[in-house]
Amino acid sequence: MTDLLRCALPKEPNPQLATASRKPWIVEQALLGLKEARRMPSHATPHLARWFRKNRKLGSRDRKIVGEIIHGIIRHEALLLRVGARSPTELVERWADMMDGDRFESTASSSAAEDYATALNVPGDVAREWLNVLGVEEAAAYAQAISHRPPMQIRANLLRTDRETLASALLAENIETVAVEGVDTALTLKGRANLLGTNAFKKGLFEVQDASSQRFCNAIPIKPGQRVLDLCAGAGGKSLALAARGARVSAYDIRDNALQELVERATRAKAAIAIDTPEPAPIVVVDAPCSGSGRLRRNPALRWGLTDATHLEAQRELIDAGASLVQPGGLLAYATCSILMRENQHAPSGNEWTRIEEQTLWPHRDETDGFFWALWRRD
Ligand SMILES: C[S@@+](CC[C@H](N)C(=O)[O-])C[C@H]1O[C@@H](n2cnc3c(N)ncnc32)[C@H](O)[C@@H]1O
Repeated sequence: MTDLLRCALPKEPNPQLATASRKPWIVEQALLGLKEARRMPSHATPHLARWFRKNRKLGSRDRKIVGEIIHGIIRHEALLLRVGARSPTELVERWADMMDGDRFESTASSSAAEDYATALNVPGDVAREWLNVLGVEEAAAYAQAISHRPPMQIRANLLRTDRETLASALLAENIETVAVEGVDTALTLKGRANLLGTNAFKKGLFEVQDASSQRFCNAIPIKPGQRVLDLCAGAGGKSLALAARGARVSAYDIRDNALQELVERATRAKAAIAIDTPEPAPIVVVDAPCSGSGRLRRNPALRWGLTDATHLEAQRELIDAGASLVQPGGLLAYATCSILMRENQHAPSGNEWTRIEEQTLWPHRDETDGFFWALWRRD
């Protein structure tokens, strides 16, 4: 019988990490970091990254251990509380027990949904939905897949190179990569590296991008030189990938500072992307704001207050705004990095639309972040 309460626990103990996690200095730093993360719950990951950079007392080895503890507690907090942690210090102690291989067998199970919510450390309604959609066995596999830090993935910039040449260039800088099957631009990093410090990055040969986003961009049938409006372009992850596929991209977003970053990235990538007010186009992409529920493995703190409700109205408005800009015979591409149904059920208003493709990617099935897209053809 699948034990949903314990399905996200590490498969193997890590006694070395457990011992290191009990050192008073490490505990002190982990508690400080956790406090920092909770100070800015909605931006915990970048805030923590800044805190680590500023915290000069921590050497690189200790930083890694402290990071493991903080992110581990964020992933498993509900379980650690359920097995008896009563204070932040006890959270760290129970986490170290967990790393030692303690499976907390004396803690009794409850209902399947409650156990699963505890295991994932997400709100009950989110756990219930995933359990219903996936069934018990797959739900357990999903929980495992999002309980570890995933490898970094990059996209070879086809405007400047190809994947094999890029892999060799990175190897020359002592960075090993593996090609991602079925995604001709994607490489997965072996281990960790300061990618942004490489010559290959400075020359615009690649961008950091999960294979899920690359698969989405590859799924859009673009003719060479065709105009694509990216209505929620942000800092340009999708715009850059689409431009590298031969699109002439017009990018729009309500955040000017994100568009500024896009311009810098486009310059480095030698990608022709225009920042424009939205005009009708044959292809319109709506990469909508969402809960980010597909990114829990990469950004553990997204668990805090996770809900599919916040962006529903904006998503509805944006899909219609995007649809109104698609030229007759054209295509609307709607995407989110969420795997919660309500965020992915929107459809453009009017009866001139035919859904021609729909895809949901799951971390445990596809070895990517969770991601959703739908393509709609306008009559
Ligand atoms: C998921 S992010 C986009 C990420 C981006 N496409 C990328 O690949 O890097 C969603 C974006 O929608 C933008 N947004 C929110 N409301 C918007 C609106 N009404 N019009 C245009 N953009 C909007 C946000 O500023 C945010 O950058």
